[in-house]
Amino acid sequence: MGGLSTGDRLSPGAARQPAELRVAVLGGDGVGPEVTATAMQVLAAAVGDEGVGLRLDDRPVGWTAVLEEGSPLPDQTLRACIDADAVFLGAVGHPDAHGQPRELLPETGLLALRKALDCWANLRPVRVPPPLVGASALRAERVRGTDVMILRELGGGLYYGEPRGEADGRAFNTMVYGEDEVRRMAALALALARGRRKRVTSVDKANVLEVSRLWRRVVDRTAAEEGEDIEVDHMLVDRAAMELVLNPTRFDVLLTENLFGDILSDQAGALVGSLGALGSASLGEGTDLYEPVHGSAPDIAGKGIANPLGAIDSVALMLRHTFQMDVAADRVEAACTAALADGVRTVDLAEPGQEPASTTEFMDAVLERMDGNVREPAEAMPGGVR
Ligand code: IPM
Ligand code: MN
Repeated sequence: MGGLSTGDRLSPGAARQPAELRVAVLGGDGVGPEVTATAMQVLAAAVGDEGVGLRLDDRPVGWTAVLEEGSPLPDQTLRACIDADAVFLGAVGHPDAHGQPRELLPETGLLALRKALDCWANLRPVRVPPPLVGASALRAERVRGTDVMILRELGGGLYYGEPRGEADGRAFNTMVYGEDEVRRMAALALALARGRRKRVTSVDKANVLEVSRLWRRVVDRTAAEEGEDIEVDHMLVDRAAMELVLNPTRFDVLLTENLFGDILSDQAGALVGSLGALGSASLGEGTDLYEPVHGSAPDIAGKGIANPLGAIDSVALMLRHTFQMDVAADRVEAACTAALADGVRTVDLAEPGQEPASTTEFMDAVLERMDGNVREPAEAMPGGVR
């Protein structure tokens, strides 16, 4: 799979679906393995119902991998990811890693993986499903109907820019983007918007940064060339942070660079009531990578109370974007919404009077609701291929 070209990836049915899907599974640190285990059960159920085989290949990453193999991204893990049809990653990050040299930080493993797989586009859909309107940090009338696709550039900017380093009591990083990197993002944003509400808001800091001024120019040029049918506007990142809270429903596709997207997507988590609820897809030239937006949450790791919704949502994204299994993706999403509507909530989303579900109780509720919804075999894609 892999090989994101805005033309084919986003048109359903363009990719071929193999008879057996090979997924590299990197649980990682903290709550990562817990939410990953539940997400993989949901994935297995979803593809099993379509008559498609699934082979999971578990590999260490992050601090767990440092302890086991001395590197946050061991060669064998990377090899398994490159060879897989898709990669699922739980979370990386551990308090014990603080103060370690950069090459031993769990986050370094994740950044190296994104780079090695050349995942340059990160899709972070933020929807507030009707049952969760009351759990939002915002008033119901403000948040109802929120449906933003945050499109975060993932392969450049301050995360990877050179020079970087520390010397003589100073530290420095470089924010750098080339026109090509912006152009492919802009083209993807336009293509995504075309299947949605036909609106792109490109977020930058063009009143201060040269990089942003280039970003804005290239977005405008791309829009003029291939986005006549899409409404494109620009917004400074500070204002965007405010608008996301004051008026979240005004956004359709929110296009931005790496660090701004990192920050705004956590903020968007508050719209849904919990960062635990958001999933993401990282797409590019190599294997596609799927990860919940949340971190490793060491404070609740091992307690069995983490919200698996973001991980399960990432599975739905995997089914949709890599495997072109839209029906299976819809079923997973519908089962999650139904569970939430029935009041099944992990502790981060439970409302007063609701008994919080554990991670696996939430998963069971999702699996049950998928069961009630299995399609007749005759309707399934023949041989799992279309
Ligand atoms: C995310 C995370 C990562 C990032 C960290 C863990 C390196 O915060 O996926 O949003 O900053 O990209
Ligand atoms: Mn983040």
